[in-house]
Amino acid sequence: MLKTKPFKLVVLLLLISAGASAQINIIPAPLRVKNETGYFSITESTKIQSIPEFKDVAELFAEQASLPNRKIIASSVKPALAIRFVAAKPTDSLGEEGYILNIATKEVSIKAAKPKGAFYATQSLLQLITADHKIPCGQVYDKPRFKYRGLHLDVSRNFYPLAFVKRYIDLMARYKLNTFHWHLTDDSGWRLEIKAYPRLTQNAAWREGKNWKDWRAQGEKFSEAGNPNAYGGFYTQEEAREVVQYAARRGVTVIPEIETPGHSYEVLSAYPELSCSGKENNKESDYNVAKPEVYTFLQNVLTEVMGIFPSKYIHIGGDEAGKAAWKTDPLCLALMKKEGFTDVEQLQSYFVKRIEKFIVSKGRKIIGWDEILQGGLAPEATVMSWRGVQGGIDAAKMGHDVVMTPAAFVYFDYYQADPKTEPEAIGGFVPVEKVYSYEPIPAELTPEQGKFVLGAQANLWTEYITTSEHVEYMEYPRAIALAEVTWSSKQNRNWNDFQRRMQSQYGYLQRLNVNYARPSYQVTIVPEFIYQENKAVVSILSQQSNATIYYTTDGSLPTANSKLYQGPFEVRGSQVVTAAVFAKRDLKGKPITLPIDFHKAIGRKVIYNLPFSKNYQAKKESTLTDGYRGGISYGDGIWQGIETNDLDVTIDMEASVDLNSLSIGFMQLISQGIYLPSYVKVLISDNGTDFKEVVLLNNDIPDTESQLLTKDFKFDLKGKKARYVRIVAQDKQKGYLFVDEVIVY
Ligand code: ACM
Repeated sequence: MLKTKPFKLVVLLLLISAGASAQINIIPAPLRVKNETGYFSITESTKIQSIPEFKDVAELFAEQASLPNRKIIASSVKPALAIRFVAAKPTDSLGEEGYILNIATKEVSIKAAKPKGAFYATQSLLQLITADHKIPCGQVYDKPRFKYRGLHLDVSRNFYPLAFVKRYIDLMARYKLNTFHWHLTDDSGWRLEIKAYPRLTQNAAWREGKNWKDWRAQGEKFSEAGNPNAYGGFYTQEEAREVVQYAARRGVTVIPEIETPGHSYEVLSAYPELSCSGKENNKESDYNVAKPEVYTFLQNVLTEVMGIFPSKYIHIGGDEAGKAAWKTDPLCLALMKKEGFTDVEQLQSYFVKRIEKFIVSKGRKIIGWDEILQGGLAPEATVMSWRGVQGGIDAAKMGHDVVMTPAAFVYFDYYQADPKTEPEAIGGFVPVEKVYSYEPIPAELTPEQGKFVLGAQANLWTEYITTSEHVEYMEYPRAIALAEVTWSSKQNRNWNDFQRRMQSQYGYLQRLNVNYARPSYQVTIVPEFIYQENKAVVSILSQQSNATIYYTTDGSLPTANSKLYQGPFEVRGSQVVTAAVFAKRDLKGKPITLPIDFHKAIGRKVIYNLPFSKNYQAKKESTLTDGYRGGISYGDGIWQGIETNDLDVTIDMEASVDLNSLSIGFMQLISQGIYLPSYVKVLISDNGTDFKEVVLLNNDIPDTESQLLTKDFKFDLKGKKARYVRIVAQDKQKGYLFVDEVIVY
């Protein structure tokens, strides 16, 4: 007995590792997978057999898999060596989208209740076919967790050819994403033919300025089709119908978005009578919601839109309406008086409710960005929560359906790696791990309320994305992480296993010629401060599976002789952690450095003489003295926003202390209205009321510098002593200041 046991173990290990090369690796992770030994081989004699209901799916599969024999045979005969599409039994409880795959050496069987399920079975098979046309044997039982699994594409800021829109849909469907949110209209271009209003596409689909940035810089001017300097384009109704059909064949619903009542600068430029001023070149971007002709216009537009798109949902936008002109417009004021409204938010709500009534009368439903909650939600509206998760929580608690699309997790226009190594993006930081970590059902909801969460969606705004290749770069691999978040069961989600399965997906993406972002070799250093003990516990993360990471804590560059990272470690006092990924003994990624400072102000009370922004409060009063430095995203919960007013804070050092130096960090990101302060000054006091100014530093970086940048204002305070230290930073532009930490020594 004792002698044979080790032998058995060896055999078992060999079997496991032999099985590993023939594993069923599917993303998103199926509900249940059973690996078996052997392969089904696709050869000249492989037949495809299908019941009539799945014939179209079978034909598409034969095409996508480039099968040598693409003729679909009827189900009455049972050939040897076949891929067979058969009907599932009701007791298989597969629903609309579920499927069962049985892969044996002589036969592959695909069972589903509906064509969508059969289609997803084929998309799983496509991921499994090896370069030598084999499919590993095993069984898969699979169905989705969420019914809404979306990807959005903004074709207004930048126009993409029809063929690319189709490819975008084909790729998302391969990962079982099922809703394409087509953002067809926005300030910088209208992209859908509307027969009743030809100027929308004759004029507002063409602009001066090859890309969004140039257009903005050149004064946001529109042009006309055919002008030599006209950039843009639009989709004809026939082309849009082609997209709907193409998508439907792949289980994808197309939801069109027609932006209202804001983000409509292009419409008001083509039809100025719909604006508040009613004048040409009005530079307004909100419809005048008190004008009857606005409703006539939108009803006519939406009628044509609903004639093209059969989706249950019509997206009516609703985000970021400025509403400024409504405050003084006589018609708006009269409407507010008539309705008893006290603020313009109620006007937006009035507008959305009227549009909803029209759409509901046609048997459809509206979906809109979470601002449609302001002033009161329309009775049947579904909410898309983008400014965080609160909109989704509020709507679900009110019994409304929601789609979660919070910027901090699923805005794919944000950077996916260090901006210094990436093409210019709008800002933010959403690496693939962050997407993968997203849980669509907020913890604040009860299980009953959680059922209103239909699913999640990633958004791609294209201000900085001028080519189709760049779209793919921003989407992949992040869209694959989103697919697993929305399709796979919560217990089947595991980052390490996902990274392992991704290794074969990279090959699949390459075969499909997808311009995906290659996984980064860069590390992310994450400290967790334990203030009472004057220490931090530091984790070092990487996108590579089982990365070899070496690090130092003395400011020197790591080498293969430095400490090997084997898990979170402690850092005491003030130290500098520098880490990098290595391949064997060679440096692979750029070393990343994070100073961890236990300075004199850590944990000290901060009094706000002027408030911080409600939307970007970070850790409220503890933000500036918690030891954390912000990253490259102003929405990371470490950067605190100061909105329209100056920063004016007093730090209570609890006793009169000797001061040496003070530094305070700010960010600038002009595209988001975030500016460095024009000056920062430090004042000191011993009683907290009478302050004496000690130093003032002017900003020396121009406010035209469009790249994301951060700046520490550094003050020499040698010889000064005080209990209260006050810092005032001027917000000259009346936009945002973003500040992360005050460091005092
Ligand atoms: C949005 O990102 N403005 C919906």
